[in-house]
Formats: sequence, C-alpha cells, structure tokens
Amino acid sequence: TLPRILVTRAIYPDVLDHLGRHFEVDSNQADEAWDAATLIAKLQGKVGALTTGGDRVDAALLAACPGLKICANMAVGFNNFDVPAMTAAGVQGTNAPDVLTETTADFGFALLMATARRLTESEHYLRAGQWKRWRYDMFCGSDIHGSTLGIIGMGRIGQAIARRGALGFGMQVIYHNRSRLDSATEAACGARYVDKDTLLQTADHVVLVVPYSAASHHTIGAAELARMKPTATLVNIARGGIVDDAALAVALRERRIAAAGLDVFEGEPSVHPDLLTVPNVVLTPHIASATERTRRAMAKLAADNLVSFLLQGKPLTPVNALPSVVAAP
Ligand code: GLV
Ligand code: GLV
Repeated sequence: TLPRILVTRAIYPDVLDHLGRHFEVDSNQADEAWDAATLIAKLQGKVGALTTGGDRVDAALLAACPGLKICANMAVGFNNFDVPAMTAAGVQGTNAPDVLTETTADFGFALLMATARRLTESEHYLRAGQWKRWRYDMFCGSDIHGSTLGIIGMGRIGQAIARRGALGFGMQVIYHNRSRLDSATEAACGARYVDKDTLLQTADHVVLVVPYSAASHHTIGAAELARMKPTATLVNIARGGIVDDAALAVALRERRIAAAGLDVFEGEPSVHPDLLTVPNVVLTPHIASATERTRRAMAKLAADNLVSFLLQGKPLTPVNALPSVVAAP
C-alpha cells in the first residue's frame, strides 16, 4: 500500500494527480475551513502533508500526529511552522522558495507604484462618477524614478526588488538586513547597506520583505512611522505582524506618512477596520505570488518535496535539518 498524505487545501488537479502516482492522497478539494482539531483528525494515519500558510503546525499538533514525517508548505514563508518543535519531533519542514521570487518582486513594484501614484484611490473616484473637471493638483503622488528606495529584508525577493529599482527606475537603493550582503551581491543589485534609522529617515519609499518571526514583529510601529518622511510611501509584502496595523492606520489618517500599500495584514483574512476607512492605502488580499505560472510552480515544488523526502529521504528545500541516522561502522 502507498504512503498516505494529506493536502490541506484545494490545489491544481494535475498536482494532485502527480501526488496520486506515489501516495494515497486525502485532499480538501472542497476547500472548507478546517480548525486545528479537524486538521489533527485528518492527519491521523498520514506520513506527510502539503500545507499552506494558514495551517499552524505546532507542538500540540505534532504530539497528536506521531506518524507525521513531513509538512511541505506551499509558501516561501513558514512562520506557520514551529520549526524547533518540528525538529524535536523529527518532522521535516520544507518551503517553496525561488520559484516565486521574481513574481513577488513584480508585485512589490506594482504595489509601490499603485501606492505612490494613487492608482486605486483615483480609480475609485472615477468609478464613483466624481470626475467632472480637470484640476492641476488632482491625485498628485510622488515619483518612483530617481527617488530613494529603502528595502528592509534583503533576501532573494528584496534583491529582486532592488534590481528593479536600481536598473529599471534609476532609484538610489538602500537596504537594511540582519546581515550585510557581500559587496559583489550589493553591486549586482545596486544597493547600499544602512542602519534601520537611516533607512527610515532617508527613503522616499520603504518596502518590507523581511520574514516574520518574534524578532521582526512590529518592525514598523508608531516610533518607526514617526521617523519616516511625511511624503514617504510604505509597502508591506512580507507578512502581517511586521507592521503594527493600528499604528499605521493612525499615521495614514494623520498624514504622518503619505501612503501605504499592503498585501498582508495582522489577523488575515480580516483587515483592521481603520485601514478600510483611510483613503491613502492600497489594499490587496495576499496575492503577491499569485500568477498562474508561479502558483503552479509553488504547488509542484511542495509536491516534489513530499515525493523526494518520502521516497528518497531527501527534501529539496528544507527549512530544518533533522539529525541524520549515522550508519554503523
Ligand atoms: C506567501 O506569502 C509566501 O510566503 O509564499
Ligand atoms: C525570503 O525567503 C525571500 O526569498 O526573500
């Protein structure tokens, strides 16, 4: 009999077919919401799971699912995994990096441009029938080209955004990251390392691409917003919780910064009600990696991690290292 796995949300049917060649697959094609207890119940008898960012894999789940060997996340971020608990339980975690880097950077740029140039705000005005005459200062925004782009979190996606800014739009690119890039990588993406305060004070546009962890919780809160230029734009394509959404809503309402573009939120899929009532924010429902090609590639990579790990013992894109079994001499 084939090893049994769980696919926790609806997924491309051909990816399910691919998995079905190697495993007995139980999948949530109906895509109904599962609470933690249901997820645990569904995982009984399963050795692997294809998970999404909405599936919390923590010590309680691991204790209740002793047969589980791998969770393959269909996302580059994996803050839904308690990685130390998974390692302690001998459960492999994998994520879906690289295949979404350029797509996500494209969206970061789209959100930056939409925000700085007030794209959705002006469209709402037009749709509402309010466009009656020309006015010299109608929906004036701020320039992208030639401005200073500050990137917080300089992983693969941050670097891809830096290249777009430096090479495509003639921006001065500054970045802050836990560790500084080597100078060849800095040169390749045209970016200069600065401390966080300098970045906040200097950047015309701040883009957040830092992974979520306890250490990056509220990287941008009231104090950081106060350091930014009143003309500045803030874009978050990283994770909810990187920004203090309540503090941001206040800063936007009081025009302490000019505008924000948000693809991720604290408490998704609900959105802080104050963000829904301020005009100078562009809001999208966590879609930065959502192109047909990239979502397929992410699903395929998660599936391939399950196949490679459960059949050959080799995860393709691991997020933890399990102690290996040392062969007797
Ligand atoms: C999406 O947010 C991802 O982490 O891939
Ligand atoms: C994060 O993992 C990134 O790719 O930027």
